[in-house]
Amino acid sequence: MNILIAYYSRTGHTAELAVLIAEELTAMGHTIDFEKIEPVKEDHRWPLLWRTQWYWGGLVIGLVSNKYREYFIENYKTPEVDIKPLTHPDVSKYDRICIASPKHTIVPCAIERYLRQVEGLKNKKVGYFATWAGPPLKHFEVEHLFRPAADRLERRGAKLVSILGLSSVYHESLLSG
Ligand SMILES: Cc1cc2nc3c(=O)[nH]c(=O)nc-3n(C[C@H](O)[C@H](O)[C@H](O)COP(=O)(O)O)c2cc1C
Repeated sequence: MNILIAYYSRTGHTAELAVLIAEELTAMGHTIDFEKIEPVKEDHRWPLLWRTQWYWGGLVIGLVSNKYREYFIENYKTPEVDIKPLTHPDVSKYDRICIASPKHTIVPCAIERYLRQVEGLKNKKVGYFATWAGPPLKHFEVEHLFRPAADRLERRGAKLVSILGLSSVYHESLLSG
């Protein structure tokens, strides 16, 4: 199969995972192309955290109220950032699309733009793999990233068919400097 791996990676962990997955898929006989999704301006970590700070309260309330969590996951809006021109702006020629990113509290702003901008998603089967710092907590990590991603894909006519989340055990915002 012809597979496109479209990834956003701010500090390199998801990019590393993308290469490992591509190697495995190539060994299985598939052909892989990459799309490196890059914001026009990559923010320092603090403006980036600031942009998503509004969600922390929602995440915490969602831990104690299932009803609120469901509402939050279905309704949160991610701010977008401009991304550099795509190498593969139309993905219709690919048999499968893989999207990859870190978790940035919610869906990263660059991915939000990519999922709205990229053409040719209709009827595509899509996989999404991600890295984040902590353990794969069902509600706090897995659902807050992959369910909205599935929703955005569905709106573009695509179907999320598989997910993978790995802990990088790294969070740049917990480091000084
Ligand atoms: C703004 C921001 C928000 C983040 N939110 C989370 C989070 O909610 N949960 C988590 O486990 N890690 C979180 N992280 C950590 C990243 O997901 C983690 O470091 C990831 O592996 C980075 O991937 P990358 O190197 O491909 O950019 C966050 C990092 C940033 C900068």
